[in-house]
Amino acid sequence: MKPFLSLLALSVLVACAPAEKAAAPSTAAAVQYSEFNTTATIRDVMNALIDPNADALWNAVRFDKTEEGDHEYRPETDEDWLAMRHAAVSIIEGGNALMIPGRRVAPPGSTTEFPLYEFMPDEVQAKLDENRVAWDAFAQNLQAGAIQTLGAIEARDAEKLSEFGGALDAACEACHVQYWYRPAP
Ligand code: HEC
Repeated sequence: MKPFLSLLALSVLVACAPAEKAAAPSTAAAVQYSEFNTTATIRDVMNALIDPNADALWNAVRFDKTEEGDHEYRPETDEDWLAMRHAAVSIIEGGNALMIPGRRVAPPGSTTEFPLYEFMPDEVQAKLDENRVAWDAFAQNLQAGAIQTLGAIEARDAEKLSEFGGALDAACEACHVQYWYRPAP
């Protein structure tokens, strides 16, 4: 009986093997792509990952004066603080997305609505291509700001969250001044 059983086991193994092979992508297909996907542009990363999440952090601690009365906002519930955490994490990872080589500033042929005040995407691209190390340093500066904010969120410290929001804004502007805003004539 023994040889028969192991033969059965072997035939089960053989039957499974081709199915497993077919499910895995072939190595030949995998090497045609770089490690990261760069379909989304830097403009997309700003609008999808960085800007809305920075707004969420900046608006979390605020004082609104309305006709119905004044209201002070700050994160209070577990969900509030978790939402803050997700916003900070998205900015940290947005910073990584900015550093992925080969990601374009904007789709080819894109322009800006305000050419007097902003560099065109091609001009931004040229500056970026000239010195990747400098670009990455600005992205890491943004990450440092978001990581500091994450610390305040983990400590559930609304004052520090508000204070570090200013440093985060400075990290945005430092890069924008260098790459995006055209100097005043
Ligand atoms: C490493 C550099 C860098 C950092 C840091 C950075 N930005 Fe940007 N940002 C850019 C560049 C370059 C553009 C211009 C892209 C283009 O031409 O659309 C831009 C554009 C934008 C835009 C306009 C997008 C559009 O549709 O034209 C917004 C909004 C924006 N950034 C928000 C932010 C905020 C908020 C932060 C900080 C929390 C930030 N950025 C940090 C480089 C940076």
